[in-house]
Amino acid sequence: MKKSIFIIALVAFIWSCNQHQDNANVSKPSADPESGMAIINGVERSELALLMRKMYDEMKLVKDSINRGYTVKTDFYDEFKRIQTAHATEPEKIDDTYQAMAVAFLDNYASFEQTAENQTEAFNIMLQNCLVCHQQKCPGPVKAINKLKIRP
Ligand code: HEC
Repeated sequence: MKKSIFIIALVAFIWSCNQHQDNANVSKPSADPESGMAIINGVERSELALLMRKMYDEMKLVKDSINRGYTVKTDFYDEFKRIQTAHATEPEKIDDTYQAMAVAFLDNYASFEQTAENQTEAFNIMLQNCLVCHQQKCPGPVKAINKLKIRP
């Protein structure tokens, strides 16, 4: 029972690239592995959107842990690398500029995962790379991503 409540809480935000997050009442998601799309409350979610949502959720947990004084050890690089190939809602956005920004993000993400010392700084630099791409390709979640920054 607890588990299903948790899952619903995780999908409670629906983002769109063009509008700020709205607070939809969301029913359980269903996935269609063949097209790489999932349906959440009647809205189609691309493979890339689902991956981004996971990145957001994981980075929120990382932020909270660092804020509590923990040294964080994560191992998401291989999974996050899929931003280079995952099917997007608007495939025309996945151009050379996108790919260049994806590489820059992944480089900084790798640096963050390899840093045990100044994790706050490495985390914020990595987040800056989320923002650079979002400002150009998907402004909707910018405000939410900004809130993930850690105040040193
Ligand atoms: C190289 C570009 C790029 C980078 C880097 C990037 N994003 Fe995204 N993000 C996108 C695009 C494009 C979409 C739209 C995906 C779609 O709808 O298919 C998106 C969608 C999202 C969404 C909305 C997901 C949804 O439910 O619709 C969130 C939240 C998000 N990104 C957070 C992040 C976070 C956090 C980071 C960094 C840890 C990040 N993004 C890094 C391009 C990027």
